[in-house]
Amino acid sequence: MAKRYDFDEQINRRGSASIKWDGADRIFGGKDLLPMWVADMDFRVPDEVTSALKSRVEHGLYGYTERTDSYLESVREWMKGRHEWQIEKRWICHSPGVVTALNLIVDGFTKPGDKILVQPPVYPPFIKAAINQGRGLIENPLVCERGRYHMNFTDLERKMSDPSVRLMLLCSPHNPVGRVWSRDELLRVAELAAASHVLVVSDEIHSDLIFKGFHHIPFASLSEEAQQHAIICTAPSKTFNLASLQVSNIIIPNDQLRKKYMNQIRRFNLSEPNTAGMIAAEAAYRSGSSWLDQCLDYIKRNADYVSTFFRDHLPMLSMSPLEGTYLGWIDCHRLRLGKRELQNFMVQKAGLALNPGYTFGEEGAGFVRINLACPHAYVEKAMKQLKRAVDTLKR
Ligand SMILES: Cc1ncc(COP(=O)(O)O)c(C=O)c1O
Repeated sequence: MAKRYDFDEQINRRGSASIKWDGADRIFGGKDLLPMWVADMDFRVPDEVTSALKSRVEHGLYGYTERTDSYLESVREWMKGRHEWQIEKRWICHSPGVVTALNLIVDGFTKPGDKILVQPPVYPPFIKAAINQGRGLIENPLVCERGRYHMNFTDLERKMSDPSVRLMLLCSPHNPVGRVWSRDELLRVAELAAASHVLVVSDEIHSDLIFKGFHHIPFASLSEEAQQHAIICTAPSKTFNLASLQVSNIIIPNDQLRKKYMNQIRRFNLSEPNTAGMIAAEAAYRSGSSWLDQCLDYIKRNADYVSTFFRDHLPMLSMSPLEGTYLGWIDCHRLRLGKRELQNFMVQKAGLALNPGYTFGEEGAGFVRINLACPHAYVEKAMKQLKRAVDTLKR
């Protein structure tokens, strides 16, 4: 029988150089804030990951490392087992992080004057990748209908047909709105991108974090056409809480695109993996399925708790249905606070460090993002604090 993991365990992360915990008060300007912001988990990794790291540490040498065939095979098997996506090992390119890859891709695959298409509200480094590399930004905002988000395909078609749009950064599943894009939605994106010769860079870092009833479709698995015109960014970092070990897998089936990416990676001397990262990732991919399934059930319970709590005790707030990711998107418009006021309210009145919605684009004003990959007791505490704070507004 599979080992049962205890996700209720409250592990003290203070003093561990955790940005989420040790940085919260400083970054948000509060005191003893409950940190539910940056996207890492407060859960210990699967035991097999810790054992693999321990035995590598026993070896005691940390010279330059190359990716092993066994590592690449573990990634290939994971994609096949978890996502029914048949990839070849040679398609898997390294990057220390997905955000690094996004920047390298924007830099290497577009020219100044080109535009990058994004769908706000979206993970802020998407916007920064265009701006930092001196490219134009073109936005195809998502549309929210009764809390659930959709793509605006009429607008997307129009924006994509602008000849200066060379590349689309797709977030699949979408951080922060929690959507797992359906096959039909992705097929439509692929069709429009093909018609306008736009390269789709699909950030699928959250693709293993999918709740029952939903199904992630790797963009490049949609069709032969999509496979030849897409770059898929994946990583074990969100899935297994390995962010600081700096390993991600950029999957590029097309030979020309892959060659171009590899030139970028070599140009900045980023082609070698972190030893610990590779060891941990392989152990997680080979043995972490059961841990992940239990973790997802646990996070789903946290998400259901928040939705029910809002319905029963805080009807002024609501959370978009969470189909994937562990990041809840909370609509706070009915509190009638300006965007800075809302942020102050969360920090000073509720004692919570949550990501302000406006940092995901103007469309995010009036929202906050909450990280639910934590022991349930933290979620209960957060809801209590939030309720108490909202009650003070009513007086
Ligand atoms: C959509 C998305 N991409 C990338 C990242 C970060 O990736 P990395 O740490 O590999 O740069 C995150 C982290 O929250 C994310 O949500």
